[in-house]
Amino acid sequence: MKDLLGQALLDYQNGNYTEDIITSTNISDEDTLPIPYLFREYKDMPLLEKKALKLAKGHVLDVGCGAGGHSLYLQDKGFTLKSIDISEGAISVCKSRGLNHAKVASILDETEQFDTILLLMNGTGIFQKLSYVTKYLTHLKSLLKPDGQILLDSSDIQYMYEDEDGGFWIDTNANYYGELHYYLSYKGKKEEPLTWLYLDFETLKTACLTVSLDCENIQEGDHFDYLAKLTIIE
Ligand SMILES: C[S@@+](CC[C@H](N)C(=O)[O-])C[C@H]1O[C@@H](n2cnc3c(N)ncnc32)[C@H](O)[C@@H]1O
Repeated sequence: MKDLLGQALLDYQNGNYTEDIITSTNISDEDTLPIPYLFREYKDMPLLEKKALKLAKGHVLDVGCGAGGHSLYLQDKGFTLKSIDISEGAISVCKSRGLNHAKVASILDETEQFDTILLLMNGTGIFQKLSYVTKYLTHLKSLLKPDGQILLDSSDIQYMYEDEDGGFWIDTNANYYGELHYYLSYKGKKEEPLTWLYLDFETLKTACLTVSLDCENIQEGDHFDYLAKLTIIE
């Protein structure tokens, strides 16, 4: 990983913001990811993120914290929390923004236990592929204290396969339709391609049941997105 996302966050933090990140996927054309959005304050967050922050309790783990906006909000509210990201640039930005417990780490290397685990801005993306979902859910469950909760958002992206006649062109022989190849470039440099998973609620719920996690649809967003709460089935 070249950590172009981290580089973009550092540039913004250091006053060197001149351009946005360019993204595309195997099913969509180029789009921009505005870097200021990754520094959004509470008032500019989507409703589902605000709801997740409202539901947070106890010791919190923010997974894939990026520039740390959710973590900073909770830290300011007095929560004890840990924020992790695989991007060195992102964690450097979190520290310079004042986050006390930010660490470069992958979720699969985390071993502490928490009351709340947050995975926000398409939190299932980190799972990468449908076939990895059970592995990630099993690990996340092992990080939960007895009454703990996982709060994550994602979207059903079936709409991206709709043609002008209202029909769908999903290839039923291909992998799950939410499993996308994701390309990112910044200042003329290309990041190594990622696999990024969007998971519809029913598929997430089915996967959760296989690892004895209850999965509740807490709130629907305004564009096929949802916030889910996962808890341990006793
Ligand atoms: C879409 S960004 C979301 C950032 C932040 N949560 C937000 O809402 O602004 C996803 C983040 O997850 C991080 N990430 C990807 N895989 C990860 C993993 N296995 N463990 C921890 N963080 C990961 C990326 O580096 C990136 O910063």
